[in-house]
Amino acid sequence: MTLREVWQWGGSRLHAAGIPDALLESEILLRHSLSEGLSALRSPIFRSDRTPSEGLSRAMFFSRWDEQVPPLGLRRFRVNLNRRLKREPTAYILRHREFYGLGLFVDRRVLIPRPETELLVEKTIELVGERPLRVMEAGTGCGAVAIALAHHLPLARLWATEISPLALQVARRNRRRYHLGHRLRLLQGDLLIPLSFQVDIIVANLPYVRDAEIDGLPPEVRDYEPRPALAGGPDGLDVVRRLLTQVAQRLKPGGWLLLEVGYGQAKAVTALVRGALGGCSIDMVADLAGIRRIVMAKRP
Ligand SMILES: C[S@@+](CC[C@H](N)C(=O)[O-])C[C@H]1O[C@@H](n2cnc3c(N)ncnc32)[C@H](O)[C@@H]1O
Repeated sequence: MTLREVWQWGGSRLHAAGIPDALLESEILLRHSLSEGLSALRSPIFRSDRTPSEGLSRAMFFSRWDEQVPPLGLRRFRVNLNRRLKREPTAYILRHREFYGLGLFVDRRVLIPRPETELLVEKTIELVGERPLRVMEAGTGCGAVAIALAHHLPLARLWATEISPLALQVARRNRRRYHLGHRLRLLQGDLLIPLSFQVDIIVANLPYVRDAEIDGLPPEVRDYEPRPALAGGPDGLDVVRRLLTQVAQRLKPGGWLLLEVGYGQAKAVTALVRGALGGCSIDMVADLAGIRRIVMAKRP
């Protein structure tokens, strides 16, 4: 079969299974399936012009699609397609996710970073600017937020905590990829507890899905992503409440707390933050869809 035939066949299987953007997904999986290990094959398709995680480049894919797919590539594509048909997220199959312009390793040990979380990074970068501040992230998962901050804030020093030792292994791997070991410390433990001093800025995207909503999540999320990275208790705010019991001890006077919140949670979180940081001033930032996503509080 040619590259085009395999691509279209994959697209129709995904479409029939109700997976959105079926042709695009088929293309991504097929290009990925034609990556490592295949460059030694004789077919000209598999020479050069590859990027590490995507496999065959887009340009190559569309310019050579009348060439035959070798048996090994086809076998790998079938395996990857079957995983996707079982609703495994594409990012886990590729073991790769782009976040704030950085390529990160991800697998089932961590939540896949979401595009809306880039707003948390953007607001923090605006706040810190060129200052040599101490910044702390609670619940770092694969390290996306802390690594993006460390990468874009060369004068800042960063600490990030994570309760799951398995997730921390992934964060360490990503930190190595960007050579940030000297400015980003990764600590295992409960939220802010591993820190023994005060910082200028605390950021967090903590689990915030309400218990009753878990079963209704798309299968990609419900069946594959780590439950402790999602579940936030009856109203979704259990972990946020816990963080707020620790924050007054760890945030400097004049410091900022930035929290990503779920749909419809901004008001409740604002009230909780006011309770934890008396007299603070609060801003809410909406995403492009107009959903209030970030609660920002300045400690007096
Ligand atoms: C919603 S995920 C966000 C991960 C990452 N910050 C991101 O934005 O992609 C929440 C993370 O918080 C971690 N977490 C949950 N409870 C925690 C706690 N008590 N202390 C530290 N981390 C915790 C979870 O394991 C998970 O990795």
